[in-house]
Amino acid sequence: MKEKQDILKKKIEAAYLGGGQTRIDKQHEKGKLTARERVQLLMDEGSFEEIGILVTHRTKDFGMENQIFNGDGVVTGYGTVNGRLVYVFAQDFTVFGGSLSETHAEKICKIMDMAMKTGAPLIGLNDSGGARIQEGVRSLGGYADIFYRNVMASGVIPQISAIMGPCAGGAVYSPAITDFTIMVEKTSYMFVTGPNVVKTVTNEEVTSEELGGASTHSTKSGVTHLTAGNDLDCIRKIKQLLSYLPQNCEEKPMKYEVELDTEYREELESIVPDSANKPYDMHEVIQGIIDRDSFFEIHKNYADNILVGFARLGGRSIGIVANQPMSLAGCLDVDSSKKAARFTRFCDCFNIPLLVLVDVPGFLPGTDQEWNAIITNGAKLLYALSEATVPRISLITRKAYGGAYDVMNSKHIGADMNYAWPSAEIAVMGAKGASEIIFRKEIKSSDDPQATLKEKEQEYANLFANPYSAAQRGFIDEVILPKNTRRKLIKAFSMLENKAVKIPKKKHGNIPL
Ligand code: HXC
Repeated sequence: MKEKQDILKKKIEAAYLGGGQTRIDKQHEKGKLTARERVQLLMDEGSFEEIGILVTHRTKDFGMENQIFNGDGVVTGYGTVNGRLVYVFAQDFTVFGGSLSETHAEKICKIMDMAMKTGAPLIGLNDSGGARIQEGVRSLGGYADIFYRNVMASGVIPQISAIMGPCAGGAVYSPAITDFTIMVEKTSYMFVTGPNVVKTVTNEEVTSEELGGASTHSTKSGVTHLTAGNDLDCIRKIKQLLSYLPQNCEEKPMKYEVELDTEYREELESIVPDSANKPYDMHEVIQGIIDRDSFFEIHKNYADNILVGFARLGGRSIGIVANQPMSLAGCLDVDSSKKAARFTRFCDCFNIPLLVLVDVPGFLPGTDQEWNAIITNGAKLLYALSEATVPRISLITRKAYGGAYDVMNSKHIGADMNYAWPSAEIAVMGAKGASEIIFRKEIKSSDDPQATLKEKEQEYANLFANPYSAAQRGFIDEVILPKNTRRKLIKAFSMLENKAVKIPKKKHGNIPL
């Protein structure tokens, strides 16, 4: 018996060594942790159970039969994070560069299937040279098996992808389908074709970091939702993100105990400037409403004219979508519409109520926007909010002009409660622009056009630069004082907790993609 146990012990020890100490040292020298170190950091102490540690590849070509590593370059299993079940796979770069073989893919698919059966989040820690070159099409098939499962799991369980090393070629499409991608700065990159191919095809000279590093994808492309300073920070952010999410689409997010703080928040009174054209930071409004320091911002450096992220309000998770007057005056444009639409749909998949903070002068004008399909892209946000059945509350802090008023979770597209501050202006457009159009003749023929414009502007502003016309019609449910906002929202979300809405029977909608 002892001998037999020793055989098992040896096999496990070999698996723990991955591609060997030299390759582990190399990994550390690059500032990267090994797959097993990452998994241990992610999971609650002692909770991780590995599945498939003895799996080996089946390739006999290119002398591969002499290069067998137990586990075949990926650590897979389950455990708990903050006491809740999760499934994880972590690619082991020390074994064939973490490349994906047929068996490596089978291991990932196995835990994906288990995550679906048991309704728990899936976390992928990616660090891989891509398709196992020695395996050809078997590896490509393995990728597609994963992609298919990513799609089937979408909207059923939360899927989070950490990019902690290379992720190139078609391999990028698994993270792209999952709900959130987080990239480690300096040590990770993602691209469909690398710098060499780019040079050959377009003659552009570009480094891997410029082409697909964390900074590029968090600012230019929006491919990554979050970035992390190093592996440790990456794992910390994954845990933080999980804390806002339910286990699956049948559940609600966890409610955290907070002292129900119904105090007034005086700081909200002085955020919106008197002038309609002065910027202010919508983060301050968010902080003034939510449980202290609970905002977890997503896509922070991408399309920053809109803010999206998770927060807690009275201990409950909410998703926040907010115009940001500090950037492009808070206009909606192509990127911000896509960003907010995607986030809205995630929240709706996973029963996370939505708070929409509105200060929007309209859609950004210009050929760049029109030619890049602001029509189709703006419609994404309109569509996403309209179809969302989670509790939806809006607060208009200042401007809500034109079509953007409709889009930003107006009563007309199904919002449950619509609040406005006394500083709100709900109109087709700003008073000056409106007066220049509708009183053009009067202004032109006036002895003092400037004075007439001012007078007409005032007339228009008196009528529409306020929330009262909308409140009279019930488009706004209540005009509230800023300092009362937190209390009002906690009560309204609590009232809406059991909201149930049935959408018309259909196979699925056809969001304008
Ligand atoms: C097999 C691989 C491998 C791969 C790396 N290795 N990539 N083995 N298949 N795809 C092995 C190396 O031979 C080496 O083995 C070890 O992993 C570490 O690689 P290094 O090159 O020494 O590491 P580094 O200098 O850090 O460079 C990493 C790298 C580079 C940039 C990822 O290895 C590389 O360019 N690899 C090939 C990438 C690639 O073309 N992949 C296929 C893409 S197409 P030893 O024994 O020396 O430790 C693709 C399609 C997916 O993925 C399609 C899905 C639909």
